[in-house]
Amino acid sequence: MEDTGRQSEQGRYRKFVKHLLESGGDRDDAMHQAIGGDFEAIGLLERDLLVAQGLRPDDFVIDVGCGSGRLSAPLSTYLTGGYLGTDVVPELLDYPRKSVERPDWRFELVEGLTIPAVDSSADMVCFFSVFTHLRHEESYCYLREAKRVLRPQGRIVFSFLEFALDYVWPVFETNVANIGSDAPLNQFMSRDGITSWARHLDLKVSEIHDGDVPAIPLAKPVSMETGHRYEQLGALGQSIAVLSLSKYDLARAKREDVLVGCSRMYLTSAAA
Ligand SMILES: C[S@@+](CC[C@H](N)C(=O)[O-])C[C@H]1O[C@@H](n2cnc3c(N)ncnc32)[C@H](O)[C@@H]1O
Repeated sequence: MEDTGRQSEQGRYRKFVKHLLESGGDRDDAMHQAIGGDFEAIGLLERDLLVAQGLRPDDFVIDVGCGSGRLSAPLSTYLTGGYLGTDVVPELLDYPRKSVERPDWRFELVEGLTIPAVDSSADMVCFFSVFTHLRHEESYCYLREAKRVLRPQGRIVFSFLEFALDYVWPVFETNVANIGSDAPLNQFMSRDGITSWARHLDLKVSEIHDGDVPAIPLAKPVSMETGHRYEQLGALGQSIAVLSLSKYDLARAKREDVLVGCSRMYLTSAAA
């Protein structure tokens, strides 16, 4: 049966982007505003966070809800390996497809809560400011899907708006003011919810960081649109959670490693 709730959330984001594009302003500005602004700075912070979590240049990254390419732009100068960006808004995906000059990378439209990648193929699966726009049950399904595509030593990294942190409370107040409107949802989460999801999915919560405490080691200083400059450590604004496969899954993955290696070799030779 069709999930009309999910359809309407995706529809809200599409409508929001359409409105921005039709408002007559600069297209680049619209593409940057559509995913929350601070395009260059947040992109650098997201990239440096993944590097701090162990991302190597030849890894494979999956960027769910990649939007207009805030992460893929700076990542393209670091990552020689593969990249898959997915989103539900076609106009957003067109932007990095043209501006990020990596014909080997994939930017794909998805309709449901799926990641179009084979099992155990990704070193990092990230969701930056994506669970912020989904119902909790949808985020849970996406985590299950992320676990499916994650390699044994891989990491799932996501950002979230946290109930416990007062500095994001104005966003909650905006949600209250927007009740009944078409504005995209700004979902809040709590750490005990994340811990429960991880437990039920056999995932391990490796790290959680407050969104306002600089903890991301930076390749170079990053200046925000507000004028604030992070020198050595940066913060995304949203809190960050890092999940990995639990011991149980690691043990199972090790047993399947040979098979994974074979299917990778097969995919490579089939593509050549
Ligand atoms: C605030 S933007 C963040 C974009 C990007 N991750 C970044 O950090 O710049 C949220 C993105 O999530 C996308 N999105 C919303 N629902 C989604 C879903 N069900 N699956 C994939 N992406 C979704 C939106 O279209 C939008 O591009």
